[in-house]
Amino acid sequence: MTIPEKTDHYVLNTYGRFPLTIAKGAGTRVWDETGREYLDFCAGIATCSLGHCHPALTAAITAQASQLMHCSNLYYTPQQASLAEVIVEKVVQQDGGKVFFSNSGAEANDGLIKLARRHGVESGRHEIITFNQSFHGRTIGAMSATAQGKIHDGFGPLFPGFVYCPLNDLEALKAAITDKTVAFLLEPIQGEGGVNIVTKEFLDALAQIAREKDCLLLLDEVQCGMGRTGTLNGWEVISPDLKPDAISWAKGMGGGFPIGAFWVKDSLAPLLGPGSHGSTYGGNALACAASQAVIETIISEDLVSNVQAREAQVREAIAEWNHPAITEVRGAGLLLGIGLDAGKLSIPEDAVASIHLCKELLGLGLLVPPAGPETVRFLPPLNVTSEDVASALELLKKVLDAHLR
Ligand SMILES: Cc1ncc(COP(=O)(O)O)c(C=O)c1O
Repeated sequence: MTIPEKTDHYVLNTYGRFPLTIAKGAGTRVWDETGREYLDFCAGIATCSLGHCHPALTAAITAQASQLMHCSNLYYTPQQASLAEVIVEKVVQQDGGKVFFSNSGAEANDGLIKLARRHGVESGRHEIITFNQSFHGRTIGAMSATAQGKIHDGFGPLFPGFVYCPLNDLEALKAAITDKTVAFLLEPIQGEGGVNIVTKEFLDALAQIAREKDCLLLLDEVQCGMGRTGTLNGWEVISPDLKPDAISWAKGMGGGFPIGAFWVKDSLAPLLGPGSHGSTYGGNALACAASQAVIETIISEDLVSNVQAREAQVREAIAEWNHPAITEVRGAGLLLGIGLDAGKLSIPEDAVASIHLCKELLGLGLLVPPAGPETVRFLPPLNVTSEDVASALELLKKVLDAHLR
């Protein structure tokens, strides 16, 4: 059996996989099992922030693996304490607060949902407003928070207490608020839903309403956080002075090592006291050492400046092409969605435009993920070079030109 055949035989078929088996990675490159090289602008879907096998990450994991991997949250470890300090003092920078460690983004978001539930206990409120096209993960809680019918399909009844609302529509938001509303949960830039950015006006109004109504402003920074937007925090690119009540992360904070986390401001920390929440692997020594190496490299190498420069490079090039099949470039930093006009492209009738183009690009040696039917995402590592960005752009243009009607 080939590797795809063996995988399909033994692994539950929940992913629509591309026809590529990745055997090795280094920096912005991966290689298949035949040794063919690919430029990786998927980066584990915004996860491999430092590229593949970055020496700082490899060294941190190697050193920690021979020291202590795991010991249970019944005990203290220096790695968990240090990583929490880095997140609170260097990433969030909002006068304190505390961190809980999980293993994934969905699990971090489940923690935010539990925080909101506890916040509403005394006032009898439990409803959380989330936004159309959001994506918060696949656990029953995070999936129910996700306002996309296709994600819920066949899994009902959903976990109760979520109210879905159009994004960037203040009137609809006001209409959705009830005396049961306890929190708002949103991605400052929606990733999976098509790379949709929240407007400053909407985000600021949401924060103001949250304050007035004693509701929590919960930010899902799982995809847009940790430098990806060209700022350390995704919300900063929209509204730098925003004061969220709690924040979740995963993906880019581990650079490829599984870890997630959420932060809560100090006044909310007592809501989640001893016995209220937990995770066996959450924040184990190995994951924390890996994540600290990733976050400290992002900060010490000023990768947000590189992200800004590479974003400008992509936007300038695409503006210059003035390509009839490109409608717009959405997002920020290196969380970019290139919007396509499928009507201008010759795509097989039974194919989804974005997926078809991603497959064609794969054939040319570029990995990019789709985001919805008419968007291709550029999510390269944060330390990607201008040469690699130029190569990826050249391949994109080549494929679009070849498919132009
Ligand atoms: C914004 C956002 N939140 C949550 C998740 C879920 O993260 P995980 O797959 O680590 O559970 C994702 C994953 O794509 C995401 O993009």
